[in-house]
Amino acid sequence: MTRQIRLGVLGCGNVGAALIELIGAQADAIEARTGVRLEVARVAVRNLSAPRDVALPDGVLTRDAHEVVADPTIDVVVEVIGGIEPARELITAALGNGKPVITANKELLANVGAELYAAADEAGVDLLFEAAVAGGIPVIRALRESLRGEPISRVMGIINGTTNFILTKMTEQGTDYAVALAEAQALGFAERDPTADVEGFDAGAKAAIIATIAFGSKVVAGDVYHEGISRVSSHDIAMATRLGYVVKLLGIAEADAATGEVAVRVHPTLVPKTHPLASVRESYNAVFVEGRAVGSLMFYGRGAGGSPTASAVLGDVIDAALNLTNGTHGSLGTFTRAKIRPIDETSAEYLLSMEVADRPGVLHAVTGVFARHDVSIRAAEQEGINPDARLVFITHTAREAAMQATVRELRSLPEVRSVGSLLRVIGG
Ligand SMILES: NC(=O)c1ccc[n+]([C@@H]2O[C@H](COP(=O)([O-])OP(=O)(O)OC[C@H]3O[C@@H](n4cnc5c(N)ncnc54)[C@H](OP(=O)(O)O)[C@@H]3O)[C@@H](O)[C@H]2O)c1
Repeated sequence: MTRQIRLGVLGCGNVGAALIELIGAQADAIEARTGVRLEVARVAVRNLSAPRDVALPDGVLTRDAHEVVADPTIDVVVEVIGGIEPARELITAALGNGKPVITANKELLANVGAELYAAADEAGVDLLFEAAVAGGIPVIRALRESLRGEPISRVMGIINGTTNFILTKMTEQGTDYAVALAEAQALGFAERDPTADVEGFDAGAKAAIIATIAFGSKVVAGDVYHEGISRVSSHDIAMATRLGYVVKLLGIAEADAATGEVAVRVHPTLVPKTHPLASVRESYNAVFVEGRAVGSLMFYGRGAGGSPTASAVLGDVIDAALNLTNGTHGSLGTFTRAKIRPIDETSAEYLLSMEVADRPGVLHAVTGVFARHDVSIRAAEQEGINPDARLVFITHTAREAAMQATVRELRSLPEVRSVGSLLRVIGG
């Protein structure tokens, strides 16, 4: 027997319009496979007269999103408005009214996710959010279901398509950062104000959600250390290429099984060319999961765009509809606050370059600084000749605090003209 599910969709922009279009195309197939008939019953927007990318039946549009979440004839609510408010109060109200909610809102979940998961549990309904991290890539479901029993040690993700596009252009075409950014903006991959993407805030929000789900403890956006790509130079890229690395903006979430601490950070990272993440080009995303039992897994695909994101939202809608029909719901359990390891106490391998005077004794002076801070050098090379030279060092695993102290002391050495980028290295 077919069960009719009436959807209230909040927002009809890139994702909302693509979702409504996809439901129109797939409703028959979904009904045949699941016995659930999806009907887009109400669609809330800000501007009733704005043109829409999808044909909507008469009478479904409203400006009153609160009315939609309160409507007793609506079974499932989809929030694709974005931002913190009014999304938070709308989702809370929908859950309180016993309606499952699907959201693609990373900003909201990275700030108040745990509170919303608890509200969904209390109401006994689903709150699903596959699309909030890495768009169309089904990584949240994998983490919360397939890998539920896995002792996950680290998750590393290329989870911002804009920055991956820019870094790909810089690497493959030798383009400067500013030129690559302008190209990304012209192609619609970057916003006019690109700060959220290029400074790592967007990836940081997604990393917080990933860490919360992977490690089962609450991590919020403010816990994530982030550095963006705006200071990555074409010289850094060329140096990385020569040494066998690709520069990627990675979101990295690590758990220390011994101390229970969680470290979450976003920064440009040198990835060995042989690592699977190195092959993720253009605006594609990938999430690389390492577990003590399962080993390594990689999830790859389109991390944004109306259609891929709508695909993830639709999967959640069907799950929620089936659970509602069966009188059940998923649960993430309860979250305690994560014990966050500050960035100073994290460890990594580092690449550090500096301009030095090319004269006898310089190398001795410079390596002496590394040794004083207990940072051991794995590889070193010198470029250039008199009067200036560039030294490049790759360290063994070192503590961030020791590395920062090394950089500070190097800056004060008379032999060192300038200290260049400090880039973290994975998988050396
Ligand atoms: N776009 C992507 O590739 C992507 C990928 C992953 C996740 N997401 C997430 O998906 C969500 C939606 O993104 P989007 O790109 O579709 O955004 P968008 O194109 O800006 O669309 C937002 C929609 O929300 C409506 N809206 C805004 N405030 C409203 C209010 N108070 N009441 C009712 N409607 C309201 C807007 O109405 P008007 O049209 O009338 O202005 C618009 O239709 C965000 O949380 C985003 O982070 C997006």
